[in-house]
Amino acid sequence: MKERLKELELEAIEKINQASELKELNEVRVSFLGKKGPITEVLRGMGKLSVEERPVIGALANEVRTAIAEKIDEKQKILEAELVQRKLASETIDVTLPGRRVNIGNHHPLTKVVEEIEDLFIGLGYTVAEGPEVETDYYNFEALNLPKGHPARDMQDSFYITEELLMRTHTSPVQARTMEKHGGKGPVKIICPGKVFRRDNDDATHSHQFMQIEGLVVDENIRMSDLKGTLEVFAKKMFGEDREIRLRPSFFPFTEPSVEMDISCKICGGKGCNVCKGTGWIEILGAGMVHPRVLEMSGFDSKKYTGFAFGMGAERIAMLKYGIDDIRHFYTNDIRFLKQFLPTDR
Ligand code: DAH
Repeated sequence: MKERLKELELEAIEKINQASELKELNEVRVSFLGKKGPITEVLRGMGKLSVEERPVIGALANEVRTAIAEKIDEKQKILEAELVQRKLASETIDVTLPGRRVNIGNHHPLTKVVEEIEDLFIGLGYTVAEGPEVETDYYNFEALNLPKGHPARDMQDSFYITEELLMRTHTSPVQARTMEKHGGKGPVKIICPGKVFRRDNDDATHSHQFMQIEGLVVDENIRMSDLKGTLEVFAKKMFGEDREIRLRPSFFPFTEPSVEMDISCKICGGKGCNVCKGTGWIEILGAGMVHPRVLEMSGFDSKKYTGFAFGMGAERIAMLKYGIDDIRHFYTNDIRFLKQFLPTDR
């Protein structure tokens, strides 16, 4: 029995040494020290021994059991420490790794230009007005002195929804709507940016949907010189103090007289180049003194009140300001195009 116990001890120690996982070690513990283990069996068989032998074997069995238990505890500590080391190694965070860059959004170049123009006019005392994109024939045409039969009403030019409803072809209807709301009392001073729609085939300079910015001032004693001064301030703020403006006679049914405003070409300094088509001037917007009939139709006394109005394409302004050569860039949203307008500090 002594030999058997010594054997068991050696066997157990070998198994303990071999165990490389806590689970394995636990199996060794159960198999050697458990109730059904070999040591318990030896103790159970002690009844067959002589009275002298019993305490000796009993003591030895307890020694072997304690020795195995101690060995197991020792090994357990080692395996637990190893486990902690392995975890530490596998879960280390390398704080020197560069972080993932988050893409930061940005305003669309068109939004930027519109906001810049809004800010400029707000600074001059204007308020921002809005009107519906689906407009009635009355406000889009009639109230602006565009009588039935005017070429702008042609199916070729406008998206009609019904006989009386269409996608607005310009932001000018907001003029009529705003004046009506004022009930014949000045002053009116608004700027109105918004989407407009035309049945155009899209190309580098045409888009079936684009943005306009409308301006309207109505008050007593508003003169052409007020219009000219306002447009000059706008042009210089938008395109640079060294820009010059010129007004050319033109025609719009809702203004009399009507003008078109050009700015001197920045690229060639007025000498003539591709951008200004050799003229030294670039057309920017349409404007004029509000037609007396338009004032009257919207409830203003044209003997007491006068006004000026202007309208421009926001894309055209943005294209000239940023040197963009194709209007479709604004709507195809190629990220490479949009990224060029990120603030430089990002
Ligand atoms: N509505 C005109 C257009 O779409 C632009 C315009 C011209 C607006 C003259 C005005 C104006 O207010 O006075 O072409």
